[in-house]
Amino acid sequence: MTQETAVAELEKLPQERPFAVFPSGLPVLLVRRDGEVFALENRCPHMGCPLTSGRLDGWTLQCPCHDWRFDVRSGRFLDAPELGLKSYAVRIENGKVLVRLP
Ligand code: FES
Repeated sequence: MTQETAVAELEKLPQERPFAVFPSGLPVLLVRRDGEVFALENRCPHMGCPLTSGRLDGWTLQCPCHDWRFDVRSGRFLDAPELGLKSYAVRIENGKVLVRLP
């Protein structure tokens, strides 16, 4: 079962800089870029590092621990598509960022 949860005000969300939120204790990373917002699991599948301080280059987010790279649009690990971050559907309503969480 999934539920949609308000996790941030769009106005307060930085552009092109990963931003961590914790709806119901779940580590979620928001990335705002080119007018879109993406929500990903904020835990690298390699060794669990949070990606909040990862480097964003275009649509690519690089893990700060050992440089694994992910496409923020899908969560896909660029070097092995079968791995990746969970990604969550995002909707903006009345200036709020709503994320569909498990
Ligand atoms: S924990 Fe992310 S690359 Fe190792």
